Amino acid sequence: MTQRTLVLLKPDAVRRGLVGEIIGRIERKAGWSISALELRTLDQETLEQHYGEHKGKPFYEPLVEFMASGPVVALVVDGERVIEGVRALSGPTDPIAAAPGSIRGDFGSIVRENLIHASDSEESAIRELKIFFPGLS
Ligand code: PPS
Repeated sequence: MTQRTLVLLKPDAVRRGLVGEIIGRIERKAGWSISALELRTLDQETLEQHYGEHKGKPFYEPLVEFMASGPVVALVVDGERVIEGVRALSGPTDPIAAAPGSIRGDFGSIVRENLIHASDSEESAIRELKIFFPGLS
């Protein structure tokens, strides 16, 4: 089942020089490929669109502030079961609960600074890809 997903390497991943490491893990998965990639500082409008469903939750303001604190790397990744697959590579939201071997398990300890965002369903992927890469066919 070939899919397309949106991945964001968060400001902590960029600041800590982990972009190559994380992209390397994605690239090494058989049958996956990167079809777009951009370093970008996110504005409030983009963040509100992207995280709109979480507005009102206690973590919303800290999350948006953090995501605007420095550039992110936005990626489009294509491949077999890539939506579920990148989420599995990333590990759960809380890095302390993430298994060693996952991106968050290997490099994270703080929930807010959890290194990576990946679309959580086909529906989210379609919505998020339109926000970040509207020109992509
Ligand atoms: S929910 O309510 O279950 O849908 O939330 P969840 O999927 O766990 O998280 C949604 C996004 O919020 C981020 N998050 C946080 N950011 C900052 N501080 C705290 N405490 C926090 N808790 C959750 C979480 O990383 C998700 O962002 P993305 O970019 O999707 O990873």
